[in-house]
Amino acid sequence: MSKIGVLGSGTWGMALARMLANSNHDVTVWSALPQEIDHLVATHKHPNLPDMVIPESLKYTKSIEEICQGRDILLFAVPSVFVRSTTKNAAPYIKNGQIIVDVAKGIETDTMMTMSQVIRDELRKVNKEAKVVALSGPTHAEEVAIDLPTTIVSACPDLETAEYVQDVFMNTCMRVYTNPDVLGVELCGAVKNIIALGTGIAAGLGYGDNTKAALMTRGMAELTRLGTAMGCNHETFSGLAGMGDLIVTATSVHSRNNKCGHLIGQGKSVEEAKKEVGMVVEGINAIPAVMQLAKNYHVEMPIVNAVYEIIEKGISPKDVVMKLMSRDKRSEVTHSLADVHFEQALLDNSHHTGMRRVITYGTFDLLHYGHINLLKRAKALGDYLIVALSTDEFNSLMKGKHTYFSYEQRKQLLEAIRYVDLVIPEESWEQKRSDMHEYHVDTFAIGDDWEGKFDFLKEEGVNVVYLPRTPEISTTQIKESLHKKD
Ligand SMILES: NC(=O)c1ccc[n+]([C@@H]2O[C@H](COP(=O)([O-])OP(=O)(O)OC[C@H]3O[C@@H](n4cnc5c(N)ncnc54)[C@H](O)[C@@H]3O)[C@@H](O)[C@H]2O)c1
Repeated sequence: MSKIGVLGSGTWGMALARMLANSNHDVTVWSALPQEIDHLVATHKHPNLPDMVIPESLKYTKSIEEICQGRDILLFAVPSVFVRSTTKNAAPYIKNGQIIVDVAKGIETDTMMTMSQVIRDELRKVNKEAKVVALSGPTHAEEVAIDLPTTIVSACPDLETAEYVQDVFMNTCMRVYTNPDVLGVELCGAVKNIIALGTGIAAGLGYGDNTKAALMTRGMAELTRLGTAMGCNHETFSGLAGMGDLIVTATSVHSRNNKCGHLIGQGKSVEEAKKEVGMVVEGINAIPAVMQLAKNYHVEMPIVNAVYEIIEKGISPKDVVMKLMSRDKRSEVTHSLADVHFEQALLDNSHHTGMRRVITYGTFDLLHYGHINLLKRAKALGDYLIVALSTDEFNSLMKGKHTYFSYEQRKQLLEAIRYVDLVIPEESWEQKRSDMHEYHVDTFAIGDDWEGKFDFLKEEGVNVVYLPRTPEISTTQIKESLHKKD
């Protein structure tokens, strides 16, 4: 039996408190709103969960000091906008090393911190550390309140703590998985709410299941792009906290984000829709921070952006949908099947032969002999050469460059060169660090006009080599002299 203090007597806090009390844990609930505690003590009913039977063994307190003291676990179940203030108020009474489980899903607007980061940040101000677990997944309080089978993820880099929380929350109706990728899990919890707002808006406009499936799938693609750019594990996004939670939030009648979106799609104002939902709509709160993260990590998030334009800028949902549908055409996948098979075969082979792998980055527009010289020199540094080729989007958004040949055309040309073994897309500045590991790179090579700029990659355990360029030729020169001839 564990002693658990639940902070927040909202829908989710109470559904979990009931479940934990029924699993014979010693559970006490606190709320910042004393009238909520009075109501619960008097009625043993929760206003948003009228069918939930609250066990007699559940205890209540109005004292934040009492809720924080002598607990094995503190369960933070307040909406994300109150996580910082609640932690601040609780901090003087929280013991050093306390296990805190956070279930709020959101990202703080000003700091772009996830909820576990906010909690740790506030505790640091009083020189305290906590072991913070994010508990997240496809879990509607309405279903947990009546013991319908549910799964959830206990995310913490400290496996021992993640497993302790797994044991405490696991029962015949609740199955808990662990995941060390706490940032990935928290990002999923925040961003899926925005995508669910989008599916709700689409439904409110009268669009069908095709649209919903498209928004969910492409929404998950952009969430995964953001997460991997931030260093998260891509497996998290197809897991329970990712795809699982997106499915439940975007399809369920219980979802407030979906419902709020639906009302907006039907023509209600954002304020009217929020009022009608009556409970916290976390997707709306998360929009500014996620937009900023997308900007900081140079990740394109067209669906999040579409929801932002509707919610924050008041643009008509129909116009935004038209804009989404008329975006430039593109491929769903970044690797061709041939690439995947070839890559796998070479990887398998390299384990036996000790093959040395080299990677270089660039745009390679209007391919010329200077490029070929560079690729030849790069290949000479090993046995297998990977070229990370800047995509059209990356070029125009990040480098301010517009190429003559498209990404597909430049890729085709590079693949025909005998020094090049694999071409992969370069989509962000940040991907280099993770590429070194994903592609088992031994040597990073680039033209000596970048001398010294990529030395930081040595931290990833690779050699960094700056190769001499062929002085008299460049794509810029070709473009300039062709322009003069015109
Ligand atoms: N409801 C669910 O099914 C569910 C499931 C998983 C995660 N979550 C997440 O849990 C969090 C809480 O959701 P909920 O459904 O319980 O929301 P809710 O709207 O039911 O919670 C409202 C509660 O917040 C607390 N509160 C109000 N003002 C406060 C203040 N100033 N300071 C501190 N606390 C205050 C009160 O206890 C109030 O009852 C959200 O981040 C949500 O995304 C909810």
